[in-house]
Amino acid sequence: MEVYLDNASTTKVSKVVFDAMKPYLQEEYGNPSSLHDKGIRIRKVLNTAKKTIASLLHCDHNELYFTSCGTEASNWALKGLAFANHTKGEIITTKVEHHATLHAAQFLETMGYIVHYLDVDSQGFVDLDQLTRLIGDNTLVVSIILANNEIGTIQNLAAISAICEAASVYLHVDAVQAITHMPIDLRTMNVDLMSVSGHKFHAPKGVGLLYIKDGTHIVNLIHGGQQENDLRSGTENVPYIVGFTTALEQGIDHYADYESRLNDYARYFLKRLDEAGVDYRLNGPPIGPDRLPGNLNLSFKGYDGMDLTYYLNKAGIYVSTGSACDSTSIDPSHVLQAIRVPEDYIHATIRFSIGAYTTKDQLDYALDNLIRILNDLK
Ligand SMILES: Cc1ncc(COP(=O)(O)O)c(C=O)c1O
Repeated sequence: MEVYLDNASTTKVSKVVFDAMKPYLQEEYGNPSSLHDKGIRIRKVLNTAKKTIASLLHCDHNELYFTSCGTEASNWALKGLAFANHTKGEIITTKVEHHATLHAAQFLETMGYIVHYLDVDSQGFVDLDQLTRLIGDNTLVVSIILANNEIGTIQNLAAISAICEAASVYLHVDAVQAITHMPIDLRTMNVDLMSVSGHKFHAPKGVGLLYIKDGTHIVNLIHGGQQENDLRSGTENVPYIVGFTTALEQGIDHYADYESRLNDYARYFLKRLDEAGVDYRLNGPPIGPDRLPGNLNLSFKGYDGMDLTYYLNKAGIYVSTGSACDSTSIDPSHVLQAIRVPEDYIHATIRFSIGAYTTKDQLDYALDNLIRILNDLK
């Protein structure tokens, strides 16, 4: 049996998404910038996609810009603001960002920007007092990961956006893990920019989106033709954009069922570990509204995470470790370090990310094997 419990890394393209994309690969393959009928038809498809997404996220379609992925969206948000606004020299982000944001911020440091990395508490929530203290006239943007890819923490966006608004500072959120996994409504979120990536919700890899609120002063990262209102050049990837739109519709439609089923599965997972007497720690907030549904980041006291993933993989169970390996060392991830997971747990951290297609049988198979492996390695 194969059990895929790595849905936070990527998801499979669903059948309905695949079917929606197919006509745009071999039949309606025109270039939306062409002036003949084949191009004009595709231009209409693109416009309809944007209008559909705008109605799902509750924004104007002119505020949506397709990108190649979430990483591009976040790089554009930070660098595009920095290159457009030279009078403010500071950026605030957090210690628990995805590398797409962290490394873009570090690049801007090499260009002279001062970047502040906010601390988080033991569950991964941003230190709001520190944000209030640091934000000021010289702050260009606050960039926050809305839902954490490793430990599932959903930030207190209302409090963060209120602080940014009071200081008249741009707020960018990385919503790559959040979209379709929690309610998203741009009418109430009070953010200026938002990064999204299709492959986290059953669209293909290679298509993302940056929401840019009307009036935001930002410049291109990618120069060339006049696509995307002249802000992001490159021929639009229409088949994937259609897939992205279909996946978003489906994800938002099925959210309530998805949330309750995945939270039930996650509770069941922990119950079985408790019954087996496993010594584990759930990193991040408790299962519920402050945690991404289906995210279980667990540390097993006294084990080695690489051993566990090796034996799980041998049994056909696919998960992620909480470590970043290089040739000389295996270091716990920056997120686990930021929430200060105790030393005797941190080295055996595994992220199980349950997804929309995970079944109860698969969970039982994964649990039976996990418990067996933990006993064998004792
Ligand atoms: C929170 C977060 N931000 C950004 C990204 C990058 O997205 P992409 O893989 O589309 O570049 C990821 C992907 O893992 C993510 O989880």
